[in-house]
Amino acid sequence: MIDTHAHLNFENFSSDYSEVIKRSLENNVRLIINVGTNLVTSQKAVDLAEENESCRATVGCHPLEIEEGNFDLEQYRNLIIENQNKVKAVGEIGLDYYYSQKEKVQQKEILIRQISLAQEFKLPLILHCRGDKEKPFEAYQELLEILKKDSFSGIKGVAHCFGANWSLAKKFLDLGFLISFTGIVTFKNAGDQLLEVVKKVPLDKFLLETDSPYLAPAPYRGQRNEPSYIPLIAQRIADLKEVSLEEVSKVTTLSAQKLFNLS
Ligand code: NI
Repeated sequence: MIDTHAHLNFENFSSDYSEVIKRSLENNVRLIINVGTNLVTSQKAVDLAEENESCRATVGCHPLEIEEGNFDLEQYRNLIIENQNKVKAVGEIGLDYYYSQKEKVQQKEILIRQISLAQEFKLPLILHCRGDKEKPFEAYQELLEILKKDSFSGIKGVAHCFGANWSLAKKFLDLGFLISFTGIVTFKNAGDQLLEVVKKVPLDKFLLETDSPYLAPAPYRGQRNEPSYIPLIAQRIADLKEVSLEEVSKVTTLSAQKLFNLS
């Protein structure tokens, strides 16, 4: 299996990432994609990929990491150029209105520039999307509007930690995007809406991810998450979809290999 979204590049793992990677291999999670959220963590993801055969990297600026006048696309471009065999996507990028809507215009502008960067290198996108409490789906709708632009036709990617309803999930699938699920699917309060998406999404249209160190699946909820827990997420999805764990493992691994061009 592949953990398509982890952050072993974060401080939380600085002292024991080697053991974490070892445990992941022991649990049949053979590849870990460490996702960048700013320049520092993107560089660290690349470093981990250089150092570990079972790691790959993505490069990108998370919407909550955008600081006024502080985003330099050229530095992200250089990181990709210098590490083309290790960088497998641009991400995580997107829209996050949870804390504040005031930087909406800036978030969109920087998102669009990063999608163009992905196009330049024929890389897929890892999309982060979160709305505010009052209008939880507005950010998803606005993200879809951007992805639908003619100039972005043909671009591929995944809506990570998918948190909207089936109707929005279907719109991503219709655009050729995948969605991905975290340990939230194992939570008692996962919610009918998310479980409906899990049940309805075709087996070959979703990916598995931990989003480590966040969102540890049951029975580790609340603790530091790690890629070795991927089988717990896969098992829950297999139960919900009434298929075998082997089937979920096989198909999601193929989908991840295809999307991220992994050998
Ligand atoms: Ni993440």
